[in-house]
Amino acid sequence: MAQIFPRWANQTPTLGMVGTLVGGAVAAFAVYWWASPYNTDVGYKPKQPIPYSHKLHAGDMQIDCRYCHAYVERGPHAGVPPTQVCMNCHQQVKKDSPNLAKLRESWAEGKGDKSIPWVRIHKVPDFAYFNHSAHMGFGVGENRAAIGCESCHGRIDTMVEVRQSQPLSMSWCIECHSDPAPQLRPLDAITKMGWKGDLAWNEKAHAIAATLHPPGNLSGAGKLNADGKLETYASAGCNGCHR
Ligand code: HEC
Ligand code: HEC
Ligand code: HEC
Ligand code: HEC
Ligand code: HEC
Repeated sequence: MAQIFPRWANQTPTLGMVGTLVGGAVAAFAVYWWASPYNTDVGYKPKQPIPYSHKLHAGDMQIDCRYCHAYVERGPHAGVPPTQVCMNCHQQVKKDSPNLAKLRESWAEGKGDKSIPWVRIHKVPDFAYFNHSAHMGFGVGENRAAIGCESCHGRIDTMVEVRQSQPLSMSWCIECHSDPAPQLRPLDAITKMGWKGDLAWNEKAHAIAATLHPPGNLSGAGKLNADGKLETYASAGCNGCHR
């Protein structure tokens, strides 16, 4: 008897399932993308246990960010300073201030073993991978550049209390990854607040940006890569951030 259905029809259930899964993922992603609340958490400014001011320390006194956030160039987390760092000065400066009572308490108990319970402000979910050090220097040879703290955290040097200034949403990450040139600066300007590039730098920044491959770079999608393979949006990077 002649076959009513062609042989490949046997595979349609599986193909259909794969299609539904892929279609579903794409749809879920599209909904997420367009519905993603661009402004989530912007302005979040919790009360801290000690009235520490960035405006005073990083602004007026010009203490470099890395004096306190020592791991920012070395690892995923910038780190918040241990009591010891504050005590380098506050063993002498304002040593009887009631505003520093909790600092002295933390120090008295095992020289800062009992750390101050600073309230965390910036946080990306665990399913997304972020690494500070990857943003503090990239490119090769002459073509080195970095992203300044200011691009992602705003003018911290003017904040008495730190507040979140950027959404930290996926679309925010990808917006910069698709066009990093305007955000690039030389490595020695990472912590400089209010830094602006001159014409020569801006030109160089575009040349450097063309050598970069941040995950999710939309402008890189749809191109042939060095191996002659077509790079689609998906192959250009979901797993760069979702590992
Ligand atoms: C004298 C030490 C010191 C210096 C200098 C300093 N910070 Fe901080 N920073 C802290 C402390 C302590 C906290 C935690 C309390 C708070 O949020 O205010 C903090 C918190 C932060 C946070 C929020 C962390 C979170 O929970 O998400 C950011 C962002 C930040 N600092 C960026 C900077 C930048 C950028 C600079 C340089 C312009 C800088 N800091 C300079 C001590 C310092
Ligand atoms: C490089 C020195 C230095 C470091 C490091 C430092 N401070 Fe200060 N801090 C000062 C000076 C100077 C003042 C201002 C004193 C004044 O107003 O005359 C000050 C003021 C303060 C005040 C206000 C005190 C008051 O009574 O008005 C607080 C709170 C404070 N610092 C907390 C911290 C904390 C927390 C850290 C560690 C994360 C820290 N400081 C690290 C030098 C430092
Ligand atoms: C490309 C964007 C970007 C740049 C540049 C950047 N940060 Fe962050 N920062 C973030 C994100 C995103 C988080 C939340 C990370 C997480 O949840 O793991 C964060 C968290 C932090 C935190 C709190 C948690 C931690 O990692 O310890 C501190 C402190 C901080 N940043 C300081 C800095 C300083 C200082 C600089 C500049 C030297 C800087 N950041 C540059 C995006 C950035
Ligand atoms: C202001 C611009 C900017 C923002 C915002 C930004 N990035 Fe990046 N990111 C870059 C640049 C530039 C690179 C370097 C690309 C290279 O080395 O080729 C990079 C590289 C990366 C890498 C690759 C690191 C590696 O080890 O290869 C990851 C992962 C990453 N970013 C995650 C994120 C996430 C997650 C966010 C949002 C929470 C984010 N980035 C926000 C500019 C940015
Ligand atoms: C540059 C880094 C980056 C790339 C590339 C990236 N993501 Fe994300 N993604 C994030 C961050 C950061 C979040 C968390 C955003 C937030 O908290 O608002 C996120 C969140 C999501 C969520 C939302 C999950 C939830 O529970 O809300 C989905 C779904 C998602 N990503 C899928 C994808 C897919 C599919 C791709 C590839 C096409 C992709 N992502 C590429 C950084 C990235």
